[in-house]
Amino acid sequence: MKTLLCRIFQLGMKLGYYLIPVRTPELITGEGCVQTLAQPLLDRGATHPLVVTDSGLSQLGLPDGMVESLRAAGLSVTVYDGVQPNPTDEDVEDGLQLYRDAGCDGIIAFGGGSPMDCAKAIGARVVRPKRTIAKMQGLFGVLHRLPPFFAVPTTAGTGSETTLAAVITDSATHHKASINDPSLIPHVAVLDPALTIGLPPAVTAATGMDALCHAVEAYTNHTYCTKLENRMAKEAVRLIHEYLPRAYANGSDREARQQMQRAAFCAGRAFTRGCVGNVHAAGHTLSALYGVAHGQAMATLLPMVLRMYGSKVHRRLAELAQECGFRGTDAEKAETFIQWIEAMNAHMGLPAGFSMIRDEDIPQMCQWAQAEANPVYPVPVVWGKEQFRKLFEMARKNS
Ligand SMILES: NC(=O)c1ccc[n+]([C@@H]2O[C@H](COP(=O)([O-])OP(=O)(O)OC[C@H]3O[C@@H](n4cnc5c(N)ncnc54)[C@H](O)[C@@H]3O)[C@@H](O)[C@H]2O)c1
Ligand SMILES: [Fe+2]
Repeated sequence: MKTLLCRIFQLGMKLGYYLIPVRTPELITGEGCVQTLAQPLLDRGATHPLVVTDSGLSQLGLPDGMVESLRAAGLSVTVYDGVQPNPTDEDVEDGLQLYRDAGCDGIIAFGGGSPMDCAKAIGARVVRPKRTIAKMQGLFGVLHRLPPFFAVPTTAGTGSETTLAAVITDSATHHKASINDPSLIPHVAVLDPALTIGLPPAVTAATGMDALCHAVEAYTNHTYCTKLENRMAKEAVRLIHEYLPRAYANGSDREARQQMQRAAFCAGRAFTRGCVGNVHAAGHTLSALYGVAHGQAMATLLPMVLRMYGSKVHRRLAELAQECGFRGTDAEKAETFIQWIEAMNAHMGLPAGFSMIRDEDIPQMCQWAQAEANPVYPVPVVWGKEQFRKLFEMARKNS
């Protein structure tokens, strides 16, 4: 019955999607392009952007070249670098205060998914001042045009530079949930591979596997995907298979960095319509309660969830496996694909499980996970609390 209700809802969503424009941001790409943003900002009427980033990136001086180039062109720039990993509503309010106090008129999100999502939520609060983050979470809680919004990713993973999502944790309840709204798709995505050269191997690994998870979940969900999303997901898988091992082995491999940035963008574009699935629904609870890095949670849970789906995903996984050059029957290709994910995780030192999962937390985790997934994500197999419990217990056992 639960599955039937979810499927009916998803059919309605599929039809509704034909009425909702899913924009692709304008792209500015190439090494050094981050220093060319002054004119595009002015063209959109922004003379005083708020740069939203985190303290680690500030200390590395990574935003400095961009900020100097903007100031040299006569723009005022205010920097907010208080975003924490897994950003909270408090981070958003602090950034919003600065935006208002400084009289900003645009936003540049600079960093990984954490600063990009926090920046989107700041933008949402600017245009919906009476709505709290909690009220905006879920579907279509913003529906107002954001101020000029540029996204500059410095990791190659979340794809937030092209997605409609901003994932924010409630600082009081620790509940991590997504605002999903087409208004949150950035106006401009700036892909400068030079920014990812210094990304440490562990972050390269986790964020790269997050991108893989986006492509795999969007593709195996398939209900909302058009040809474009299918193509984007396949391209992302092919690029990750070829270039993630290279980017991990040698961070200075510029071709690998550039292609991973493209892969993250494609995977983000794929799931902006195709949606993520049970891996994300379950993984968000691990980040919210135990601070597990998002990509680590995704990498570890992805093969477990795919195995639990069984034959329901063999055909779609086989199509992705084909992109990696794997051969055999659909079932064989799907199994080889899952084994490849496990081997990548082991090779890159990503965890096989999570020992910190506590029995007393599992009911809450199952509740959050199934509420995130159902009915919106068109997952290959609709899970209730029992399946999520099995997954969390397996993840603890594997640690
Ligand atoms: N909006 C979306 O569509 C979407 C999709 C997936 C995940 N997310 C969210 O994104 C967040 C995770 O983002 P993330 O995985 O990019 O990590 P992150 O933004 O939390 O960054 C992780 C760490 O890497 C550091 N870092 C980033 N770029 C660096 C660089 N170039 N050199 C050196 N260090 C660098 C940061 O300072 C930080 O310490 C989570 O909150 C997750 O829920 C959002
Ligand atoms: Fe993700």
